[in-house]
Amino acid sequence: MTERITARRIFVLTGAGVSAESGLGTFRDRGGLWARFDPMTLATPEAFARDPETVLAFYDARRRAALAARPNAAHHALARAADRLAASGGRLFLCTQNVDDLHERAGSREVVHMHGELTRVRCTACGAGAEHRGDLAVGDRCAACNRAGCLRPDIVWFGEVPKHLDRIEAMLADSDLFVAAGTSGTVHPAAGFVAYARRRGIRTCALNLEPSGNADLFEETRTGPASRTVPDFFDALTA
Ligand code: APR
Repeated sequence: MTERITARRIFVLTGAGVSAESGLGTFRDRGGLWARFDPMTLATPEAFARDPETVLAFYDARRRAALAARPNAAHHALARAADRLAASGGRLFLCTQNVDDLHERAGSREVVHMHGELTRVRCTACGAGAEHRGDLAVGDRCAACNRAGCLRPDIVWFGEVPKHLDRIEAMLADSDLFVAAGTSGTVHPAAGFVAYARRRGIRTCALNLEPSGNADLFEETRTGPASRTVPDFFDALTA
């Protein structure tokens, strides 16, 4: 994409690579989470039903690490770009696969967490959701229905339906630029967003440490650490 991009309605999808430089592990890189743990024993409803203590301990550790981490330049650049676009009549829709709250702590005002959030729990009895920033024990009670033993992390596990898909599709369809940052492009439906954008003539760009699994579908790819590629791209776009 050599000529200056003049996009005003931008859809950004972020993945674990955006939080990597904040010290939070990715999933499929060398030494990644799924290289060290079997997701089928930790990130499925069946695993939770079979061994809730182990699953809760796994997510307690990830929650503590996420809350101890600090946003990096990529998170701050996206918050800055959204404010600049809003000030000039445009918009940046931020959809993340990440379950940390680093985008929010960097100042992003609206973040759509399609895979849920570490800082929220959900009651399997009454369905109520609640913020929960501490550890979660098997016997904890739901604040809404007061039942014990029904709270789970509000995370979308393998085999479950991601959140906010209708809104995500509507916003993507109404965009003039789709940017994927720090994602391997291997997990659907997020991995299919680029093909959806291409079919609609929406410009596409990937910002990743190394070419992602669906890199060939992007009109432009920029490789490098998100803490450099994301500020470089969005600061130039919204200058
Ligand atoms: N800067 C930019 N990109 C990076 C960096 C970095 N510093 N470090 C790693 N990456 C890239 C990797 O090259 C890889 O392509 O980030 C991507 C991370 O890929 P994954 O580990 O597969 O993470 P992600 O794409 O977010 O996974 C999607 O899979 O298990 C599920 O629910 C989980 O949301 C997650 C989903």
